[in-house]
Amino acid sequence: MRAIQIDRFGTPDVLGIVNAPEPEPGPGEVLIRTVATSLNPVDDKTREGAIGEGTPPLPMTLGWDLAGIVVDGGATGLRAGERVIAMSHQLSTGRGTWADLVALPAEAVAAAPQSVSLAEAATLPLPGLTALQTLDWLAVKAGERLLIAGAAGAVGGLALQIARARGAQVDALVSRDAHVAFAHDHGAGFVTTDRNALQDRHYDAVFDTFGAFVTEAVADGGRYASIATQAGPVPDLSSRGVRTTVNQVREDGAGLNELTELVDDGSLQLRMHSAFGLHEIQAAHARFLQGGLAGKIAVVF
Ligand SMILES: NC(=O)c1ccc[n+]([C@@H]2O[C@H](COP(=O)([O-])OP(=O)(O)OC[C@H]3O[C@@H](n4cnc5c(N)ncnc54)[C@H](OP(=O)(O)O)[C@@H]3O)[C@@H](O)[C@H]2O)c1
Repeated sequence: MRAIQIDRFGTPDVLGIVNAPEPEPGPGEVLIRTVATSLNPVDDKTREGAIGEGTPPLPMTLGWDLAGIVVDGGATGLRAGERVIAMSHQLSTGRGTWADLVALPAEAVAAAPQSVSLAEAATLPLPGLTALQTLDWLAVKAGERLLIAGAAGAVGGLALQIARARGAQVDALVSRDAHVAFAHDHGAGFVTTDRNALQDRHYDAVFDTFGAFVTEAVADGGRYASIATQAGPVPDLSSRGVRTTVNQVREDGAGLNELTELVDDGSLQLRMHSAFGLHEIQAAHARFLQGGLAGKIAVVF
């Protein structure tokens, strides 16, 4: 089968399509034929060699997101032919999704949304689970005030919509004027590009997607979650009674089912910037590196 692998770290030209052995699903695993995947910042960092300790050994198959068709559900209850989505924690398992066939634990797999194509669905798993699990940690209740820093990004844009669906009042810090309309259109109240405008707004919770560390914006006794692992820990705010975390996404089929329902009931809109073919993987990474994306890059098998 085809797999996108690297055997060294570097610029997008280290990415190659190789002929790899087909995976054999173990007990409790499901074998999926990949239809589409997508690019995430972690894939870029892994290819570059920027992850450091904990990177799987070379050569490695890259990729976390997966949308495809079940080939063999084994005893998992998933049936051959079902449209599914999944996230594989590639860094901890070495099990990349950028391959024709992927075997994953059934607990990491969920039904794909019916209302979008599998290419669009492939943009959901990693950023969607990160948004969902971090909002769960923040435990934002209906009516509470949440600030999302980076609300027009892949994770932030989904978090904004999920938080609104849960009844939270959401404000947004975005990088540039072009993102202001996106945040307003998806339910944000106050939207700014100026972090100084956030001082003393006393948010119940802050969801920080890029290491903004706008700690002055959270109320005493509030919650502050970052997902920007490489920016380091959130400053200690315990003297103000603020709980902090740097959240790490984990495989979670139940969470994916929740996301699928939100897509199908119209609460969650997915944004696909463009779709590249498998053989265009180097060009896809080059486009990702240019930045300024409004939506995600899908890769279609
Ligand atoms: N811990 C985890 O488990 C986990 C999971 C998923 C992602 N992540 C990490 O979380 C980060 C976000 O991921 P993503 O996929 O959402 O990336 P993304 O789509 O690039 O989103 C990041 C957003 O933050 C904005 N931003 C960056 N610097 C800013 C600034 N100074 N002021 C205002 N906005 C700013 C970006 O705007 P521009 O586009 O204008 O730069 C973009 O809209 C990445 O570093 C990723 O590696 C961590």
